[in-house]
Amino acid sequence: MDGNGRWAKQKGMLRAFGHEGGTKSVRETVEASAQLGIENLTLYAFSTENWNRPKVEVDTLMRLLVSSLKKEIKTLTDNNIKLKAIGNIKLLPKKVYKELNEVIDFTKNNTRMTLTLALSYGSREELINAIKEISVKVKNNIISVEKIDESIINEHLYTQNLPDVDLLIRTSGEQRISNFLLWQIAYAELYFTPVLWPDFKKQHLYDAIIEYQNRERRFGKTSEQIS
Ligand code: FPP
Repeated sequence: MDGNGRWAKQKGMLRAFGHEGGTKSVRETVEASAQLGIENLTLYAFSTENWNRPKVEVDTLMRLLVSSLKKEIKTLTDNNIKLKAIGNIKLLPKKVYKELNEVIDFTKNNTRMTLTLALSYGSREELINAIKEISVKVKNNIISVEKIDESIINEHLYTQNLPDVDLLIRTSGEQRISNFLLWQIAYAELYFTPVLWPDFKKQHLYDAIIEYQNRERRFGKTSEQIS
């Protein structure tokens, strides 16, 4: 969800205004995704690297997170949406951590769509953790080295119960991945749009999905094999 800061700057406003605008796009995207029957939506809300932003901006983002969680718990419940989080969430301020866990717990039996927030998330850190956990299991003879395969790696990632990514959308014109789900996007379709996140509305999501539907996903096979 990139471009909040630039959106605010274009309007002569502070970055916080951009993040507030961004929350409206979060709501619209979540609703539109559920209506379309998407089963999993993951939003990259805060990266491990984002902790290095000025304290005032980090505080604003944390405050917005708590207020959005409080505000949206009813929408999530009414729409049968389950909330999850991936990332090193123990680093979040106590208040955020508590509110987040309350909403996760409150929505845990919902089944229509899983909304995963990547918070204090970094893909390299996720992979390092997985390698450490697997190494300990090898050392303690719980897993043999020969048994290590894709499913073992998957089971040790934050995303353990989520499927691989089908479509990755990055807004604001930047064409890079920025440490997001590096393992999980191995065969994802990438979609870059110049639209800044606070301007991202339902129709932009539909545009991305229509383009996705017109891509041919070959997974290494030939076109003839796929058809
Ligand atoms: C990137 O734009 C955006 C973020 C670091 C924060 C995303 C957060 C929200 C949309 C609001 C809260 C989220 C939830 C889930 C309620 P940027 O600040 O890097 O923009 P710039 O590149 O234009 O400076």
